Amino acid sequence: MHMPQLVAATRTVRRFQQNRALTERVLHGLIDLARLSGSARNAQVLQYMPVLEPALCERIFHNLTWAGYLTAWSGPEPGERPPGYIICLANRDWQKGPDTELYCDVGIASQSMLLAAAEKGVFGCRIGAFKPTLHAQLQLEERHRIFLVLALGYPAEEVVLEDVGAEGDIRYWRDEERVHHVPKRSLQDVMLPPPTVF
Ligand SMILES: Cc1cc2nc3c(=O)[nH]c(=O)nc-3n(C[C@H](O)[C@H](O)[C@H](O)COP(=O)(O)O)c2cc1C
Repeated sequence: MHMPQLVAATRTVRRFQQNRALTERVLHGLIDLARLSGSARNAQVLQYMPVLEPALCERIFHNLTWAGYLTAWSGPEPGERPPGYIICLANRDWQKGPDTELYCDVGIASQSMLLAAAEKGVFGCRIGAFKPTLHAQLQLEERHRIFLVLALGYPAEEVVLEDVGAEGDIRYWRDEERVHHVPKRSLQDVMLPPPTVF
């Protein structure tokens, strides 16, 4: 797939084929690409924990908040839950700069992973809304701080891009066929004209 198609296809997926297992090899390959991604000061403060063990996946799942705009839906049912996760965390021992740098780094790293995953037919959801209890449940050390949880798996839902309408509503929605619709602003709306230089 060429890059424009790949970027457009790399959509957030929240319902998965839970019984279709991911391999350690796939997750390790994604982490290897996160490793090569851009990093403020090249400090490379982030570390990544791959998780495939079903009982641990289940434990992680109960710490996550799904799709805030879909108020009638509390997240994927058993059978549609993610069969794998990559926990993105900062190692405070390596951190010299502010947290804002890490938020940028984790965005870049997670996009590398999601793009490469999509190329293999694997999709995911970034979860920034996780419970603080996740730290202890993953038996992490004090120096580790979770920044993002990447839920991964083969998709069990279709996602369609839409234009943001004139009313400017950016909330995603799900239709009667449970197809997920994601409105995006137009190119015209996101592009600012440069100033005239006299
Ligand atoms: C930093 C970040 C944090 C996010 N956190 C959550 C989350 O906690 N729960 C969730 O269901 N989706 C989460 N998402 C997914 C967004 O809702 C999703 O990217 C958005 O709806 C647009 O869909 P798209 O990724 O297909 O473009 C997060 C996305 C980003 C970039």
